[in-house]
Amino acid sequence: MIEMAQIKLTDSEVDAAVRVLRSGSLRQGRECDGFEAEFAAKVGAKHAVTCANGTAALHLAYMAFLEQGDEVLVPSFTFIATGSMVTLCGGKPILCDVDPATFLLDLKDAERKITRKTRAIAPVHLFGNPCDMQAVAEFSRKHNLTIVWDAAQAHGARYHDGDIGGFGDFVCYSFYPSKNMFVGEGGMICTNNDQFDHLLRYLRTHGQTGKYIHTMLGLNYRMTDVEAAIGRQQLQRLDEMLELRSRNARLLTEGLSDLEGIRCQRTTPSGQHAWHQFCVVIDPVIFGCDRDTLAIRLKEKGISTGVHYPRGLHQQPVFKELYGEYRLPSTEHLAEHILAIPVHHGLSEADVLYIIDSIRTRHE
Ligand SMILES: Cc1ncc(COP(=O)(O)O)c(C=O)c1O
Repeated sequence: MIEMAQIKLTDSEVDAAVRVLRSGSLRQGRECDGFEAEFAAKVGAKHAVTCANGTAALHLAYMAFLEQGDEVLVPSFTFIATGSMVTLCGGKPILCDVDPATFLLDLKDAERKITRKTRAIAPVHLFGNPCDMQAVAEFSRKHNLTIVWDAAQAHGARYHDGDIGGFGDFVCYSFYPSKNMFVGEGGMICTNNDQFDHLLRYLRTHGQTGKYIHTMLGLNYRMTDVEAAIGRQQLQRLDEMLELRSRNARLLTEGLSDLEGIRCQRTTPSGQHAWHQFCVVIDPVIFGCDRDTLAIRLKEKGISTGVHYPRGLHQQPVFKELYGEYRLPSTEHLAEHILAIPVHHGLSEADVLYIIDSIRTRHE
């Protein structure tokens, strides 16, 4: 079976984890310090702060500045944590539609939803496709907003000449298995702001500013040295993994782009996609079958697929209950017609050609 992700660790990653386990240093320690320094250097950020997972990264970022009743502009087409951490910090996610071609936050819709209470914006580099960061930065300056970048899926994505991790106050990553980097559970927040760097570190450890001195309320959101040791090793092969993802995405794009009724995610101009997911949108009438039927046919041919996401956040029961019902047409269209096909670094060229062939001969 061709799976949706390749989450096998290399021998050197396993060895690094075993070394830490043998050393008895199981908590956050030197390996975390090393991972932070090396990750920050890699993405060009001033600081990087390890934490328990990507959800914790977003939670810590909002805890650092959000106040009760603040509104945050969030794309509806994303994973729940992008919006739910706003709510848990006392804010209100204002769910916006996405661009139908890039699948990224639609700034025109966001602009319509600005109010006196709007405090921040949470653009998601969805599937590894970098947002138009210049446009987001200009929008945020105009409306005096803090930006919390959700980079959970975008390790190694670039915009103009820089890594997306080097821009701004809060860039939040996840290292969950299946992501471009995977250590088990883990997260990272990159920031260029010294004050936020300090604050995030206090918040990560119960607001502790000295031994048993707690000057604010915080959480235990620490990463362990075992995960950090894996991350340090893996960082060394990130570029190699990204190159393979990129080759696979290029083959898929070339192999599918002349097919009627199927379209691929449009990459942001001046952006370099990190290809966490390769998603296509199926027009069932023109293509001849719908997304779910195609998924079944591919499964019969030994190819796994995924649906990210089958509903927008505004269609989630919890948000409907909290904020009422409304329509976001592009998000809803994507939720109904999108299909993710394998693109990961573990695929051979032959695997990718087989996937293309299987999609092209879907009716057999
Ligand atoms: C866009 C996005 N944001 C946040 C997260 C949360 O990361 P984690 O699962 O590490 O908590 C994920 C993980 O799936 C994600 O895809």
